[in-house]
Amino acid sequence: MRKALVAFLTLPLLALGAQPAVAHGHGHGKTLRAAAPRDLRIGSAVAGGGHHVDQPYPDPFTYDRPYRKVLAREFNSVSPENQMKWEFIHPERNRYNFGPADAIVRFARANGQVVRGHTLLWHSQNPAWLNEGTFTKAELRSILKSHIFTVVGHYRGQIQQWDVANEIFNENGEYRQENIFIAELGPGIVADAFRWAHQADPKAQLFLNDYGVEWPGVKVDAYESLAKQLLAQRVPLHGFASQAHLSMRYGAPDQLAGVLQRFDDLGLHTAITELDVRMDLPASGVPTAEQLTTQASYYKTVLDACLAVDGCNSFTIWGFTDKYSWVPVFFPSEGAATIMWDDFAKKPAYYTLRDTLRAARR
Ligand code: XIL
Repeated sequence: MRKALVAFLTLPLLALGAQPAVAHGHGHGKTLRAAAPRDLRIGSAVAGGGHHVDQPYPDPFTYDRPYRKVLAREFNSVSPENQMKWEFIHPERNRYNFGPADAIVRFARANGQVVRGHTLLWHSQNPAWLNEGTFTKAELRSILKSHIFTVVGHYRGQIQQWDVANEIFNENGEYRQENIFIAELGPGIVADAFRWAHQADPKAQLFLNDYGVEWPGVKVDAYESLAKQLLAQRVPLHGFASQAHLSMRYGAPDQLAGVLQRFDDLGLHTAITELDVRMDLPASGVPTAEQLTTQASYYKTVLDACLAVDGCNSFTIWGFTDKYSWVPVFFPSEGAATIMWDDFAKKPAYYTLRDTLRAARR
């Protein structure tokens, strides 16, 4: 009955040369963002800073026009890969460097994209002045507070989600002592960071973010009890995110939906924030067809997990092209971790994601 009606409506439109997609009522979904359900943002990291600085190419986001075109076309969420990290945005104690992140936020606005802010409280990529300085506890606390008010305030109203606390637990589910703020000020500083971020931008969704939380275990347990504790104290915590940096050495995260559901049950949003799937490259450097099929299935496992959980509202991959991926730099002998080749040609993983999104949108 319904099919007949669609056919009836489609015919005259076709005769007029109109797109039949209109009659289907869902858009055809030629890109990831167009294929996605309306309540799910599809994001990518925006390449720049970090490891890119040592590579033989100019800043990708600034200078690679084809890259920017694909970024605009395929995604409706963007995450600065490095441009909002302390070492980049706050290079000297009394100087902030907002230019590169501002450019990303402007690009996002022009292309109907939201922005995920990354990150405010982390042990890594902090500037030398912070790592090597000597501060009293009171000074350190005020340094963090004014950083959060300045950076979150600068982007007030323009950030959908902030990764407030990044990687605060180690593999044993203990607070990471490499995190200078936690080591010096104690774990209570995490709650303060959330409170300050919320005061600076009351509309942003505030997240805990980590890797190694794709399977149940002590790290997930640690996050679950922290989340319960923060919520009981009425700390403005809104979400829990799995980075999902995966390697084909370890198997697909087939229990991820269950992990996310535990946080959904607490009333939190959940998100996938940094998905990539690296593999051991053959001597030729070119993945086999079988490796690419397996990789696509890993991407699908993670997307399916997000789609299965009501409050999972953001699905972000850590770069869309191997051309700029952090993987070969950080995991020697592994690579090919993203959904497109260097020339932006699409891998099987791209099509699998798009098909899965289309099916979920109906
Ligand atoms: C990585 C970037 O991709 C690199 O460019 C940089 O050199 C190092 O950091 N977890 C995170 C991300 O939260 O910020 C990291 O990004 C990858 C692991």
